[in-house]
Amino acid sequence: MTEKELRALLADMSLEEKLGEMTQLSPNFFGTEESVDLTGPMQQMNLKPEDVPLLGSTLNAFGAEKIIEMQKHHMELQPHHIPMLFMADVIHGLKTIYPIPLAMGSSFNTDLMEEAAAMAAREAAATGVQLTFSPMADLVRDPRWGRVMESPGEDPLLIARMTEATVKGYQGEDVSAPDRIASCFKHFGGYGAAEGGRDYNTVDVSDGMLREFYLDGYKAAVDAGAAMGMTSFNTIDRIPATGSQKLYRKILRDEWGFDGVAITDFDAVNEMIPHGLAADGKEAAKYALKAGVDIEMMSTHILNYGKELVRSGEIDEKLIDEAVWRILKLKNKLGLFENPFKGADPEKEKELHQCAAHMALAREISARCVVLLKNEGKILPLKKGAKVGLAGPFANSLSVLGGWSIIAASGSTTLLQGLTEHGAEVKMAMTEELKPMQMGFFDVSDQTAELETLADCDVVIAAVGEHPDDTGESASRTILRLSHNQEKMLERLHDMGKKVVAVIFSGRPLEIRPVLPFCDAVVQAWFLGSEAGPAIGDVLFGDVNPSARLSMSFPQTVGQVPVYYNHMNTGRPVVGKPHRYVSCYLDCPNEPLFPFGYGLSYSEYHYQNLKVEKTEGGLPLKVSVEVENTSDVAGRETVQLYIHDVAASVVRPVKELKDFTQIDLAPGEKKTVTFAVTTEMLSFWNNEAFVFEHGDFEIMVGHSSDEVLTEKVTL
Ligand code: NOJ
Repeated sequence: MTEKELRALLADMSLEEKLGEMTQLSPNFFGTEESVDLTGPMQQMNLKPEDVPLLGSTLNAFGAEKIIEMQKHHMELQPHHIPMLFMADVIHGLKTIYPIPLAMGSSFNTDLMEEAAAMAAREAAATGVQLTFSPMADLVRDPRWGRVMESPGEDPLLIARMTEATVKGYQGEDVSAPDRIASCFKHFGGYGAAEGGRDYNTVDVSDGMLREFYLDGYKAAVDAGAAMGMTSFNTIDRIPATGSQKLYRKILRDEWGFDGVAITDFDAVNEMIPHGLAADGKEAAKYALKAGVDIEMMSTHILNYGKELVRSGEIDEKLIDEAVWRILKLKNKLGLFENPFKGADPEKEKELHQCAAHMALAREISARCVVLLKNEGKILPLKKGAKVGLAGPFANSLSVLGGWSIIAASGSTTLLQGLTEHGAEVKMAMTEELKPMQMGFFDVSDQTAELETLADCDVVIAAVGEHPDDTGESASRTILRLSHNQEKMLERLHDMGKKVVAVIFSGRPLEIRPVLPFCDAVVQAWFLGSEAGPAIGDVLFGDVNPSARLSMSFPQTVGQVPVYYNHMNTGRPVVGKPHRYVSCYLDCPNEPLFPFGYGLSYSEYHYQNLKVEKTEGGLPLKVSVEVENTSDVAGRETVQLYIHDVAASVVRPVKELKDFTQIDLAPGEKKTVTFAVTTEMLSFWNNEAFVFEHGDFEIMVGHSSDEVLTEKVTL
């Protein structure tokens, strides 16, 4: 449609029609039986049958045939035959599931991220989905929060890069193409800072914290051209985000120039009532409209009270028109007025879903997300032909996809399959699967006596972790240790004198310090998706040399949380040995068990000759470092650049990641890696604007946030 035609359509729409366009309900409201994954309370909707044909979009309908049918039916009834928009939670793949976003962050590989999202787009588009509620760009520091699994991690730059790659992967150059889908970033804003790690909880961060840490991911999505943004459940500075004019009108629209669609999270308009901002549904609708909400998801206050608010003059109809204009523009951009079914195609669906090419890509990506945390005595990689014992709840479990794999319940392979595929002779014991805490189960039974049967194995792989349903939305935890009998199993194996390789399946950093002494090697396997088993096998047997790094710090104990690498200093930092009256704990070091950026490899790398050179005028700085593979194994090294502004008008983090790259190094090979440090990288929010201040800076390059070479420079 031309812009003129679209304007004419808007001008011809009734107010009721416009309010319907601004409302999103699940497929069951449209007369289809099932509705997948209703993640929140269903409120009394007060929906009349004549409202249904006016609704502009739905969420989580899947299946090309069904969606084509729904669309046809809907368009017949909609007064202007406006197609509806099919949105869904395609978070880390649709049928071919790739690693959870926290694991993808660990890959430090934006190319793979883009390819993964493009694969998800192909599968989702064929099934009829036109927009995904992804990426989540919430910065996360608190592993008690179950939703850390949906984020690329604790670092603003890593999140921004991963977010940008994800948006590009979904939308491509032309989002109307049949194999592309639109992207909705979420949850704007600051949802990752929910107090105490308890889901939906209050967020209270300073403006500086927000500007420098929490907003970067969303901004990257906007800059990458994401079609939509979603509000968050939390309050921010005492206002629920869904009603925040500061977030939506000021920052998103005015400052960042976002002209895409703003959707609320599930029921979030209604939730402004229990939050205590709105007295009733009418007031909630008013707050949302004033803040700049375009679509209300899963509550109907705008639909129910919009007319009254316009008639009474409390809301200018111009606001409604602006919102509907943005929605129509998006539908038009997706090409729905020409082809309302977009990529929906039952044949393509069959052909693409879990096709060989997608599964191969998932395997490659998954192996690149596995973080090697410990490898004492170089016990890994395993020798081909080794006699392998396999124990623990994830030994032969299909529960390895990770949360939000909503319609991909089948087709994953287990760790056992992954090991046997590599020709390993595997003997198993104590393999009872974990059941979710969500359903009241907290442990497996004590079968440690069975472990004796593994006495003749050369090495025992202990596949431990948490149930995937205990991660993600509404899955906050206060205790992050492995369950009692899993810890007991590791201790028993160690006491038996076995070499123990712990493979950890989790959607968050767990508290593994108590079991670390029992493990010779520790492999953080997150939830890797459809090809988890084979990919872990590839790493354990050395077909893939690990290159992933932690996207989130692992605490020593949950009492340290939040513990993250890019913290500020204090006036009493620990220098050398901790002593009284410095900022420290009596019973635990300040440092995490494993910091952000940390991860081992089967190779060894040596960094030397860090040079920081000024260009004409000072900036950008040219930074170079030599990285040598001093081992006899080819590897991929993740080189990280950090900076520290020594003194500034507001205090600066002790370290900030500013760039990273990956290089492949043959045995003995040495490469020079260069980075440019720009003015922008050295700028910060001084509570009014982003500024650069002259002074001393430390430039650091290294293997991990806690292992760097440092050079000082004065600018
Ligand atoms: C609630 C979640 O917070 C959000 O991330 C998701 O996209 C919506 N439900 C829709 O399922």
